[in-house]
Amino acid sequence: MYSRILGTGGYLPQQVRTNADLEQMVETSDTWIVERTGIRERRIASAEETPAFMGVQAALQALEAAAMTASELDAVICATTSSANAFPSTACEIALGLGLNDVIAFDVAAACAGFSYAYSVAHNMIIAGQAKNVLVVGADTLAQACDPADRTTIILFGDGAGACILGASDEQGTLAIKLSSDPSRGDLLRLPFPKRGVADNSNCYLYMKGNDVFKHAVTVLAKLVNETLELAGLEAGDLDFLVPHQANLRIITATARKLKLDMSQVIVTLDKQGNTSAASVPLALDEGIRQGRIKRGDKLLLESFGGGFVWGSALIRY
Ligand code: UT7
Repeated sequence: MYSRILGTGGYLPQQVRTNADLEQMVETSDTWIVERTGIRERRIASAEETPAFMGVQAALQALEAAAMTASELDAVICATTSSANAFPSTACEIALGLGLNDVIAFDVAAACAGFSYAYSVAHNMIIAGQAKNVLVVGADTLAQACDPADRTTIILFGDGAGACILGASDEQGTLAIKLSSDPSRGDLLRLPFPKRGVADNSNCYLYMKGNDVFKHAVTVLAKLVNETLELAGLEAGDLDFLVPHQANLRIITATARKLKLDMSQVIVTLDKQGNTSAASVPLALDEGIRQGRIKRGDKLLLESFGGGFVWGSALIRY
């Protein structure tokens, strides 16, 4: 038994925050942001556009793409670090929103690498025979976790949700998965929870030592893509597309260069979406598929890197 992607979906909040908007908020410029990150605009969630709400919308699209009904799902896994509650989990809220009952439902917290981790759990549940169809959602609202006065983070993050349905299949869709972490670097990128009983929680914003994170991300991802290809017994030349985490265009181009891929073989969404954390890979995958660029049978390398540090990949035949 193998696992294979049956359908994908995505949801982006209505509100757009452009670089011009950020020029009004902090001391920055459109030129600096575009040159250093590649980001031009990002979406900002309203109070109603919670990770669960966005996750449900993305899931409904994925179900439609898979020509399935929600009742056919055996499990809902949500990768998020912006859940409204410790419990009920965002996955439980998504299950509720889809009208499900008696379904496996839980969140996975692996920051920007969350989708890779959740995908891996879903794949292993399927090949172990524990579930047939698993909804994997990545949903985050990290724009809200940034200090609006901190120009080093507020320019980077956007909100959104992406989803895919991974199903049991006799065709091998998932060819290789690699996950890992370097917990010794946790202090370089962190998001503390607000503390109960403390009047001032202003130090609970997302903190990132950007330049250090950048250097580690480039090094780790270069190693990760090679390890993943090796696990699958493939070479970079066998790949049709790279579907990378959307943190910084310079990180993405460095990985593409390492793989000797032309940028036409790389799905880039960050210009319009910024870094949507756990949502970024499934949103990019969905966009590539909906634009007709990614076709059935294509070999895709999905990769992500985030706070922890944590990182992960999936090499798949779509
Ligand atoms: O998703 C999880 C993984 N996250 C990432 O992978 C993000 C990794 N990091 C990055 O993408 C980049 O490091 C940033 C985009 C965050 C920063 O770019 P950088 O090229 O590493 O810039 P820097 O931090 O080295 O800062 C260069 C200069 C500094 O000024 P001085 O000290 O040279 O005078 C900063 O103060 O740019 C300044 N700066 C800004 N200037 C205008 C920092 N932020 C801004 C800003 N606008 N928004």
